[in-house]
Amino acid sequence: MTTHQDYGLKTPGSEVARAFAERIRGKTILVTGVSPKSIGSATVLNLASQGPGLLILASRTEARLREVAAQIAEKYPDTRVEIVILDLGSQQSVRQAAVDVAALTDKLDILINNAGVMVTSRKATPEGIEQQFGTNHIGPFLFTNLLLPLLRKAAESNPPGATRIVSLSSAGHRLSPIRFSDYNLEGKPVPPEEDHVKPLQGAFAKCAPDGYNGIVAYAQSKTANILFTVYLQKHLTKFGIAAYTLHPGTIQTDLSRDQNDELTAQFYKVAPYWKTPDEGSATTLVAALDPALDDAKGLYLVDCQLAEPAPHTRDSISADRLWKLSEDLVGEKFSLRG
Ligand SMILES: NC(=O)c1ccc[n+]([C@@H]2O[C@H](COP(=O)([O-])OP(=O)(O)OC[C@H]3O[C@@H](n4cnc5c(N)ncnc54)[C@H](OP(=O)(O)O)[C@@H]3O)[C@@H](O)[C@H]2O)c1
Repeated sequence: MTTHQDYGLKTPGSEVARAFAERIRGKTILVTGVSPKSIGSATVLNLASQGPGLLILASRTEARLREVAAQIAEKYPDTRVEIVILDLGSQQSVRQAAVDVAALTDKLDILINNAGVMVTSRKATPEGIEQQFGTNHIGPFLFTNLLLPLLRKAAESNPPGATRIVSLSSAGHRLSPIRFSDYNLEGKPVPPEEDHVKPLQGAFAKCAPDGYNGIVAYAQSKTANILFTVYLQKHLTKFGIAAYTLHPGTIQTDLSRDQNDELTAQFYKVAPYWKTPDEGSATTLVAALDPALDDAKGLYLVDCQLAEPAPHTRDSISADRLWKLSEDLVGEKFSLRG
């Protein structure tokens, strides 16, 4: 149970940051996917309002990062902000970014894996991984593992569970499990338990001319965010690190930049309420800061409260299998044992 049962759909992130100011003050916090108008920018502005020791903004477009850093400098001139260039769709960039972060700090109290893409046409990462799986899961998988020594260092002096890894998923995860037999969506046969929900509604069912369904690919990647968190919880609690995942709500951001009008109309049909970016940052901030979540009793949050994700994310065998697949795709093993 969270501390504030009264928080919900319309709670502003600014209120959450104020409520948990002690979990921000003096801390080193890294947020990925920061650009104006995004959930990431609302998240970092709210964190900056409560005096973190160091705020690291990591994203792929330097000009956009600098714009948000300038907003923070103007509103909260005492906050130390650093930017790191990170392209989660390139493993080389992820590895360089991890080196750049380690040059800025020897400990990381909170990592917020916020960056993400939603696309409707097929693209691949330089390593040949389908773009949404590569950017939304494989990149954050590698980045998190490379930053783990810094998180473990922070955990040595924080209360158990105050050191956090928060990964933004989406309610869209409900549409697809991990397609282990066809994670690149190449049309290979998949067993029923790996296939997407059928039938998909309206424009969600529309594929690109080559058969690629971007909504299914996005859903798979967002399921991966939850299974990744299942694995992290299972193995990191003993080090005093808690991990949570969440659906931030529906927010008008640049995530829709690749959508056509038909797909946008479909989202308007299914979304109960469109949050402001400030409201859209609230669930992330509860997941990252609420001391009532130190004990890792839940996994997934919606509208600032613990909630139940789809059954296909509650399977520790799939979480182990995804971890192994992810290690294979980055060409490195990460043992969280000792
Ligand atoms: N908006 C919603 O309704 C909604 C709903 C459910 C879940 N989410 C999740 O919320 C998170 C934030 O999304 P948003 O709505 O704020 O979207 P957004 O406005 O498009 O922001 C996404 C951020 O991720 C960055 N990014 C994209 N590709 C990247 C890459 N390869 N490497 C590093 N950074 C990259 C973007 O940078 P550039 O701007 O420089 O490209 C941007 O800063 C995502 O994980 C998304 O899946 C959003």
